[in-house]
Amino acid sequence: MPYGYEEWPKLSLESFKLGKELNIRSVKVGSIKYDFEPSSVVITGMGGSGIVGDIVRDSLLGSNIIVHKDFSIPKWVDSRSLVVAVSYSGETFETICSALDALRRGIPVVGVTTGGRLASELEGRGAPVVKVPKAIAPRFGLPNLLYAVLGVLSHYLSIPDINESISLQDDALRSESPGRLAYFMKDHVPMIFAPIGLQAVAYRFKNDLNENAKTPAVVAIVPEADHNDIVAVMLKHPVKYIIIRGRTDDVHDYLMRAVEEVVKNYSSDVEVVELKGSSRLSQEVYGSMLLGLVSIKLAELYGIDPVRTDPINTLKEKIRGINCPLN
Ligand code: F6R
Repeated sequence: MPYGYEEWPKLSLESFKLGKELNIRSVKVGSIKYDFEPSSVVITGMGGSGIVGDIVRDSLLGSNIIVHKDFSIPKWVDSRSLVVAVSYSGETFETICSALDALRRGIPVVGVTTGGRLASELEGRGAPVVKVPKAIAPRFGLPNLLYAVLGVLSHYLSIPDINESISLQDDALRSESPGRLAYFMKDHVPMIFAPIGLQAVAYRFKNDLNENAKTPAVVAIVPEADHNDIVAVMLKHPVKYIIIRGRTDDVHDYLMRAVEEVVKNYSSDVEVVELKGSSRLSQEVYGSMLLGLVSIKLAELYGIDPVRTDPINTLKEKIRGINCPLN
């Protein structure tokens, strides 16, 4: 399997170790101390790095995790919070600006990256950085970034068992559904329904479809989607429906079955993707891998290179050299 997917189990374990081995509690940056119980954890990052925050938020139910994808950290965040700045390349302007914004305001920041300016800016100020191994592109480095963040957070929060989430990666790799699903979706816009507790899988799938298969995709999160997106099924559109079915809680599981029934009443273009795993982390990692493989197969069907993301590079070039906007 190309694009490094077969390396995920090994990279997941290694990266978790990297985060766990960081001696973060002993760090001090001027008056900023890292030996504390954070009232919240703010995870900042964009795109393939930003999705890490979404997966961590869904997986660490009960912890106060806020995902923020912009040039600064929300105004209400103060030194009782921990900021985790995730950037695969370490060159993403939004993430560098938000990490520096936090440090300037006396908020402890830890970086997770392969290096770049994020690493040098943070290390230059004495802030901790976990350096993870490289991948073909940021999104292919998901296990590297995700498990390193979980390793860092294990110093502060209780983390779900990571072993099942790693062993299920083999099941996703061996699954035969990616080829079938890609064929099903070809030449259509996928509309992805998922429950709110597993929303990161739907967003990761959308992002992979955008970047790997150069395809637009719609994400419909239940219960909110029951009040708007669902109405679109009444007309015939060039859309294929994907229902992500997992286990969250009785009410949301029931609602997802109801959504499936309603969509199937209007359309026969529906596929259900069943997530494996007992924890949200396992389900989201399994889903991210399985559906990532779908996006690669779809790129193959379209005869395009999954790796190239030229418009992202153009936009990054356009904002290079401007000053961080002040919060
Ligand atoms: C490209 C990709 C993008 C990047 C995003 C942020 O593969 O996945 O979504 O992740 O442009 O860049 P990094 O991850 O380097 O901070």
